[in-house]
Amino acid sequence: MRELHPKDGLRGTLKVPGDKSISHRALLFGAIAEGKTQIDGLLPAEDPVSTANCLRAMGVSISPILKGQTVEVQGVGLDGLQEPNEILNCGNSGTTMRLLLGLLVGKEGRHFVLSGDKSLCGRPMQRVGQPLKVMGAQVQGRCDGNLAPLAVYGQKLHGAVIGTPVASAQIKSAILLAALTAEGPTTVIEPAHSRDHSERMLKAFGANLEVGGEMGRHITIRPGSTLKGQSVVVPGDISSAAFWLIAGVLIPNSEITIENVGLNPTRTGILEVMEQMQANVQIINKRDIAGEPVGDLRVTTHTGPLKPFTITHEIMPRLIDEVPILTVAACFCHGESYISGASELRVKETDRLAVMTRQLSLMGAKIDEKPDGLIVHGVTKLHGSKLDSETDHRVAMSLAIASLMAKGSSTLIQSEAAAVSYPDFWKDLEDLQH
Ligand code: S3P
Repeated sequence: MRELHPKDGLRGTLKVPGDKSISHRALLFGAIAEGKTQIDGLLPAEDPVSTANCLRAMGVSISPILKGQTVEVQGVGLDGLQEPNEILNCGNSGTTMRLLLGLLVGKEGRHFVLSGDKSLCGRPMQRVGQPLKVMGAQVQGRCDGNLAPLAVYGQKLHGAVIGTPVASAQIKSAILLAALTAEGPTTVIEPAHSRDHSERMLKAFGANLEVGGEMGRHITIRPGSTLKGQSVVVPGDISSAAFWLIAGVLIPNSEITIENVGLNPTRTGILEVMEQMQANVQIINKRDIAGEPVGDLRVTTHTGPLKPFTITHEIMPRLIDEVPILTVAACFCHGESYISGASELRVKETDRLAVMTRQLSLMGAKIDEKPDGLIVHGVTKLHGSKLDSETDHRVAMSLAIASLMAKGSSTLIQSEAAAVSYPDFWKDLEDLQH
């Protein structure tokens, strides 16, 4: 449990930890490459550690994941993963389970069981299992194969053309990983452009991958290339920077600079929403590092009323993980903000639409919950309350920022959930207060 008090003036310069999506991929692709992969800036948090431990259980040597230290992965090649003699524990991490499914379904003759915590065992996996079955995969699980624990029996796969029902980078990446060892080419067609870290990094590792079609939504892999170990530099996670961006704009007398943030255009939807709010965010020192755009972000407190905003399905894949903190921001905008096309939020680590509505309502927020979104009626003040992250890392950090803006103190139980993606969140918050 943590006590949170209203604050005036968050000031300072900080670096947020490495991007979670890129960290998972660097470990996974490094594991199936030939030779050594060196990763700088890897996120030292529970989710990537789950990925690393699963890979270790299949014979991949990975050096300890410690803050500020280069991580070395000794790749075993495309067919080198061994059958583990234990259940692969994916913890709380959807990315670990879904990408591993794609990686393992083509490992002929080997048997794998994947499981995770209570939240992960309640999240839909058919969305990955079903397209992989089109390629010849054998995946079984509870509720007709939809829920973990999942059993995979590796098969020789064949290439296919697969249209995914939702714009999900996890589904897309699982198919691309399976395609690396299938017979014949595989094309994934997405309904909208989801984050493209897999495409960028697989190409850099030497995969024969082509992006085409309308707005780059057709991705084709031709098997036959070997992946070669690389040097990967992981930028800071914009999904973690999001908490400071909103805090900096909302909390009086604040000025926060966040250095080295990944600015991949498939991830920067929050900056466009902040433009709608007429919030002051500056991008400084924009550059490219290891195939990803990076920059520093500076925010200062907004003077005058913040404008309410509208988020629809078109932008949703580019800010999917930022909806909880944007819901907090909406509470302080002058007018009604509309969030729609967000039904995917219901199958994240928690049902984030329900949990954010429930928790922020305890603080006096006025939110109407809809099947695929929220209408947030902006108010000028929230009041402190007894809050619960309900085990969700992004909810924990969003509620913390809301508490700093409230009248009176709050308590937050299960605040330790933040460690899934941002172990130093509470320390960084303290540092910004001095
Ligand atoms: C992720 C993709 C997103 C995101 C998740 C990480 C990834 O999920 O919400 O936190 O690394 O590919 P979906 O692909 O299911 O939308």
